[in-house]
Amino acid sequence: MKKWTTVGMIALLGVTLAACGGNEAASGGETLKIATDASYAPMESMDKDKIVGFDVDFLDAVMKEAGLSYELTNTGWDPLFADLEKGEKSAYDAAISAISISDDRKKTYDFSIPYFESVNMILTKEGAGVKDALELKDKKVAVQGATTAEELMKGIMGDGNTDLKRFASNAEALLELDKGGVDAVVADFAVVQAYVENNPDKKFDAIFDKTNFAPEYYGIMFPKGSELKAKIDAAVEKVRASAEYKEMYKKWIGVEPDTSDLVN
Ligand code: ARG
Repeated sequence: MKKWTTVGMIALLGVTLAACGGNEAASGGETLKIATDASYAPMESMDKDKIVGFDVDFLDAVMKEAGLSYELTNTGWDPLFADLEKGEKSAYDAAISAISISDDRKKTYDFSIPYFESVNMILTKEGAGVKDALELKDKKVAVQGATTAEELMKGIMGDGNTDLKRFASNAEALLELDKGGVDAVVADFAVVQAYVENNPDKKFDAIFDKTNFAPEYYGIMFPKGSELKAKIDAAVEKVRASAEYKEMYKKWIGVEPDTSDLVN
């Protein structure tokens, strides 16, 4: 009960972006509540008091396609999982936050069909000479806690390794690299690449390691047993194959998407 109140408070404090998907009748007039952690540009981030990013545009297209109205709230990462874990008692109906579909998460949550292919990537200061993830074993690494990056780096560095530093947001992990507190950050490729591009004065190296980091697929996440999944899946399938998807991908990621591996 106490926990619920805390989550509720965070929701109230969080910035809410109201958007109308239009067809009230199709949704029974209900406005769906969607959670995100808006500190993961270009997927989702705050632009003054607005949440912007690929996921925001994608969600809007999906909700329009499904004829549902919704509002998107910046809850932060851990609260999002803590809330949706409550199943029917969740304050939120779904979350979109560059969330990789994984077998482990599927035990607790339901996911839409995949809508985005990702992979983790290494960010270091220029000239650090790191060539792959295994070389990070004896270095200091910052990650956002409870992400696939944390899982992967735990696997390489060892579970109790105190040189693997976990932060509540990816923005804080990046700040730690800036301050020289760590040698590297591991995060999703789009986020690493955007950070490099947006900070041309700072000089970084961004390293792909497709041997140690496998492809990941983002899904919209639901509380387990959600009745929304079928409707949203149908909409995701349509939007994923649309010209609009290509446009938003180019806008936020900067290149043409390859959606050939996005299978249901
Ligand atoms: N894709 C990674 C995962 O699912 C990282 C996502 C982090 N997203 C965010 N909005 N902070 O673990």
